[in-house]
This record gives sequence, C-alpha cells and structure tokens, in this order.
Amino acid sequence: MRKILVTGAAGQIGSELTMALRERYGNENVIAAGHKTEPDNGLLESGPFHFIDCREIGTVAEMVKKYKVDTIYHLAALLSAVAEEKPQLAWNVNMIGLYNVLEVARTYQCSVFTPSSIGAFGPTTPLDKTPQDTIQRPNTMYGVTKVAGELLCDYYFKRFGVDTRGVRYPGIVSYKTPPGGGTTDYAVEIYYHAIEHKKYTCYLKKGTYLDMMYMPDAIKAAIDVMEASPAKLNHRNAFNVTAMSVAPENIAAEIQRIIPEFTMDFTIDPLRQAIAESWPNSMDDSAAREEWEWQPEYDLVSMTHDMIEKLSQKLRIRIS
Ligand SMILES: NC(=O)c1ccc[n+]([C@@H]2O[C@H](COP(=O)([O-])OP(=O)(O)OC[C@H]3O[C@@H](n4cnc5c(N)ncnc54)[C@H](O)[C@@H]3O)[C@@H](O)[C@H]2O)c1
Repeated sequence: MRKILVTGAAGQIGSELTMALRERYGNENVIAAGHKTEPDNGLLESGPFHFIDCREIGTVAEMVKKYKVDTIYHLAALLSAVAEEKPQLAWNVNMIGLYNVLEVARTYQCSVFTPSSIGAFGPTTPLDKTPQDTIQRPNTMYGVTKVAGELLCDYYFKRFGVDTRGVRYPGIVSYKTPPGGGTTDYAVEIYYHAIEHKKYTCYLKKGTYLDMMYMPDAIKAAIDVMEASPAKLNHRNAFNVTAMSVAPENIAAEIQRIIPEFTMDFTIDPLRQAIAESWPNSMDDSAAREEWEWQPEYDLVSMTHDMIEKLSQKLRIRIS
C-alpha cells in the first residue's frame, strides 16, 4: 500500500486527485498539503491535511518523515497566466519547489509524479500532432519552468535512480474547484457563464485550437502512469496526453445543443492569446498509449453533457 503526499492539494487538480487517491489507497494513507488556498471540508475531513511551502525544503521533508511517505504527487505550481504576472515568484515555486521535492525524494526513496504541460512547448514547436520528442523553446516563464522541470526529473531518475514520472497535461476542464490562472481557464468559465448568464465573453480568438481534457481523465492519467510497470516506460517524465483538440467556438456549439439560447462574443486578452498561439493545436500522445495504455474516456460531447449536468446541480440552476 502506498503512503502518498499530495502538494498543491487544494488546487484545481489536487482537490479531486487527493480524493481519488484516498478512495483507492485509503484515507489515512494520503496526506494533503495545501499552501494558501483554503481546502474544502471534504478534503479537510477525509484525511490528514497540512499547510506547507514547497520553497522551504524542511516543510516537505517534515511531511515525508512524519508519515513515512513513499510517493509524492507534486502539484504545487504557479500556472501560465499568473506566472507571466509574477515571473520571479513562478521561478521560485515551480523550480525551487520541484528541486526540493526531488531532493527529499532522493533522501527518503520516494517516487514522484510531476505534471508538465502543453506550456512546455513554444512557437517553434510543430503545432499539429506535436510529437512526444520535439523542439521545446517556450517563451513564457511557465514554459521555461516546465521544460526545466521535465529535464530535472529525467536527471534525478538517471543520476540518482529516483522513480520520477509525469505527463504533459493539456487544459483541464472541471466543475469542483475553479482553475488557478492558466491560459485554458476559458474552457471552464464558459460552462459557468452558460448556466448562470446564458452568455460568455471569450478572451481567446475564434479558431484558437488547444488540447483539453476532462478531470476524470486527468486523474486517471496521474494514477495510471504511476501504476505502470517501470520496464515498459521509455519516456517516464512528460508524456504527451490529450483527449480533444478544440477551439472556443467548438465548445460554444456543443453547449448550444443543450442550452440553445447561449451566445458567445469575444474580447481578446493579448497576454493569454499570445501564450495560446505559442502552444500546440493538438498533441500526438501515442507514446503514452503504447507505453502505459493511456486512453481517455471523455470527448467534447460527453464532457459537455457531464459538465452541464454536474455544474447546474452545484449552482442549483435548472436547465430545461
Ligand atoms: N489545470 C490545468 O489546466 C493544468 C494544465 C497543465 C498542467 N497543469 C499542472 O498541474 C499542476 C496542478 O495544477 P492546478 O491546475 O491544480 O493548479 P492550481 O493553481 O489550481 O493549484 C496549485 C496549488 O499550488 C499551491 N501553491 C502555490 N504556491 C505554493 C507553495 N509555495 N508551496 C506549496 N503549494 C503552493 C496553491 O495554493 C494552489 O492550490 C501544476 O503543476 C500545473 O502546472 C495544470
């Protein structure tokens, strides 16, 4: 049985991944570590919860020692749009934080899962069917920390034998915890606005294609890659994973099939538009499919149905 520490546990992915890990490995075996974001009651009451700062190595080591942790899901990070506003802080959280986690993992023999991102690619990367191994010259602080993080995780595996693994997540769509300031946040906001106001003003241009994934698939990817037989893994860190490649108008059209009065217009945010244009339109995730049988369950149609059903229940708004 694993003993797991989750950093960034109160965030968009962490809040749901922690609960899924608790269900799978037992509540007491999954230690949730937050920072400033307030955890919800479910997270607080279902198992151990502590506040840490991943920039302070002692706070990470203390958790690992106290609970005899053998696996770290390291989700603490600043996301792309926030990282462009606070690049110095993003470097510290994303790089020093990861370095500290890897050092603790090396010292106490832990496995480590670290998500990379489509943000690890840049304007000179092939945009369509972006290969697993290709040019990575991102021009954002977020991207710089994600590429460096991928390399650092590879280094800790090769040099010290730390069992590091990870995926390059696309934009993650979910209804439980709001996203933390990424470029793909529109793909979550659009559902809230469709249900609450029947209209949405999108900050990305029509035709801006990006990879996306529904939260249950993001959780499945994180668990499956850590459970995969190490003998089968050639890439280890930073597997491309995707479930759909969509532009804003594709999501809007799918929503209109359920909420016909929904309308969308556009007011472009130049910062996030520039970031989006430097990222792939669609990734080739065949390495993940071959090496650990990655297979998403949700596409745009099934995700939209589930999002509208679950979110309208959460917001207590009836969709007729
Ligand atoms: N959500 C997405 O669409 C997406 C896409 C690609 C990759 N990712 C990656 O997945 C991981 C989790 O993303 P998320 O969307 O849940 O992010 P999020 O912003 O919702 O959560 C990150 C959490 O990290 C915590 N944190 C910030 N500074 C910290 C510090 N110094 N010490 C400890 N914790 C700190 C924050 O309190 C926050 O709750 C990140 O590495 C992110 O880059 C996310």
